[in-house]
Parts: sequence; C-alpha cells; structure tokens
Amino acid sequence: MALLEIAKLGDPILRQKAKLVDLKAIKSKDNEMQELIDNMIETMREEDGVGLAAPQVFKSLRLVVIECSRNERYSEAPNIPLTILINPSIKYYGEETALGWEGCLSLKDLRGLVPRSTEITVEYFDREGNLQAIDAEGFIAIVLQHEIDHLDGKVFLDRMDDLSQLAYVEEFEKYIIKKETAESELI
Ligand code: NI
Repeated sequence: MALLEIAKLGDPILRQKAKLVDLKAIKSKDNEMQELIDNMIETMREEDGVGLAAPQVFKSLRLVVIECSRNERYSEAPNIPLTILINPSIKYYGEETALGWEGCLSLKDLRGLVPRSTEITVEYFDREGNLQAIDAEGFIAIVLQHEIDHLDGKVFLDRMDDLSQLAYVEEFEKYIIKKETAESELI
C-alpha cells in the first residue's frame, strides 16, 4: 500500500467530470483498481479525512471511500463504517435541507457552512461489483453528498449560499466553534 498525493483546489482534475469505473475490471479483481481502493483508504486515514474521492488523488474515476471513527479533524462526528462506493448515484433527495460546517482535504485549511439534504438514497457498487444502496441521513448523508460532488467536478464552496460563512480553520476554531458547540451542528 502507498500514500497518495492529494490534489489541491486549482488543479484542473478537481473540476472534471469523472469517468465511470469499468465494472468488469472490479469483478475480475483487477489488481490496479483494488490497489487504488486500498491506497485511497490508507490515504484517507493518514490525512484524517472522513471521505476521499478518486479525483482528489488524481484519478478521474467515479470512486469514493468514506469512514469515520474517532476522527481528530471532526471530533464531534458520529461513526461511519468503512464503505467503498463505485459509480455512486443519488437516487433520492429528502425535501429538508440543513446547514453544516464542512472541510475538504483539497481545501485543507478552510471550513464553510453548506446547505445539504438531510436524507438521501445512494445506489453504488461495492468493491466486489455488487449493487448496493444506502438510505443515509445526518452526517453520513452530508459526507456522501460532498464526496459525490467531487465526481462531478464540484467542491463545497460551489454549494455555499453565503460566502461570508467561510473561514480558515484557526479562525473557525477561535470565533465560530465556541458559539456553535451547544448546537452541535458541527461536522
Ligand atoms: Ni472534499
């Protein structure tokens, strides 16, 4: 396994629409694809991310990994089991939206307040090539919408409707986190 370099905002790969993963390659246990998945998991853990999309490691493919357990960057966050999503698509959005603070390994020092649907249904293929679906709500729904956006060349800034709610981590922790801890909307 190997750690992968993270693409930073401004790199054109983050703005491309990623290509569908060839499911035949997944089912035939194509080593290169399985190795990419393992390397993405290792990189996400090393960087303390709760999700990582393939374009963020310079692979323009529709592939996402998510996981959250005792995360230092998002200490308030609930657990998310390790999930690998190949060719994910959001099949349903709930009517309700909520604002939550997001960060991104490709915009590492920034936090922004982003509106997202509170409930979604995502269909995807797992790393064995089997079709799966998740009904997600709350934090996991936010993480999935954030990561799937990366596959369409979008970052969380594009989803913000008030750019005054954008801050560097240091200032976020100094001025915003204290005020909002009680509400625990922090991700
Ligand atoms: Ni991101």
